[in-house]
Amino acid sequence: MLKGRSLIEPGNFSLQEMDSLFLLAEKIEKDEQYLRESCRGKLLATLFFEPSTRTRLSFEAAMLRLGGSCLGFAEPGSSSASKGESLADTVRMAASYADTIVMRNPKEGAALLASRYSPVPVINAGDGGHHHPTQTLTDLLTIRRLLGKISGITVGFCGDLKFGRTVHSLAKALARYEKIRMTFISPPELALPEYIIRILQKQNIEFEETGSLEDAMPRIDVLYMTRVQRERFFNEEDYIRLKDSYVLNREKMDLGKKELIVLHPLPRVNEISVEVDQDPRAAYFAQAKYGMYVRMALLASILGVL
Ligand code: NCD
Repeated sequence: MLKGRSLIEPGNFSLQEMDSLFLLAEKIEKDEQYLRESCRGKLLATLFFEPSTRTRLSFEAAMLRLGGSCLGFAEPGSSSASKGESLADTVRMAASYADTIVMRNPKEGAALLASRYSPVPVINAGDGGHHHPTQTLTDLLTIRRLLGKISGITVGFCGDLKFGRTVHSLAKALARYEKIRMTFISPPELALPEYIIRILQKQNIEFEETGSLEDAMPRIDVLYMTRVQRERFFNEEDYIRLKDSYVLNREKMDLGKKELIVLHPLPRVNEISVEVDQDPRAAYFAQAKYGMYVRMALLASILGVL
């Protein structure tokens, strides 16, 4: 079903297709031998024009655990992009060496453009402040595993909702599930972009925007904390003024539900105090591990080895 398909934004896969990925990821989590050698002989190209730790390493770990191999670069300085090569040419080259491409690029729309030039599937690992669909698969799998369901929950998004691509992708994906409520917590300057608001309105999603994390805390089932995206700011002064708008600490956690889960795509800077790590409701490190399982499921599916 997913064989040969690209993943550029969460809407590319149906709910049923995402469900099949979650089931597969859960199967791999239970039995790490499952699909072990299924991608032997296959190559994954990782083209990272922007920094990454989890996304790149989890894709590489996923491919290696499936028995496949990886090649690529982790910064544009070490690729021919630094000599002025166009993205279209870089992608055509990579596609002639590898069976699938994972790409992160600072420009919105870069992954879509790459997929138009690539004869092999392209997976978007983040295009500027736009989308990050495999983080969304990670987030949804984590919610499903820890809460037992995705429908009927209240999700609070906190921090940089303007530039945070993980927020845009997750909000858009959640809007397709039944009875979802969303609370967007940010300073006015970092509020959700209009185009995401319009998608939520069109789908009649119940949502509110607020500046107060304390007020929102008691109503939330999933708190999605995010880093203020320094690299997307036009000036450093604005970043410095806004960077510590929200810091989740023990006192704020005391206002939350007993069954709350706290997610964060990571890296964290200052927005979750380390004392929160000990709280059983802190799920961000578990979330990073689910990311590897769901990427294994995704690679096996689009490479058609199932
Ligand atoms: C996120 C990203 O790159 O958008 N990181 C990740 O992939 N886990 C979040 C961030 O950088 O703040």
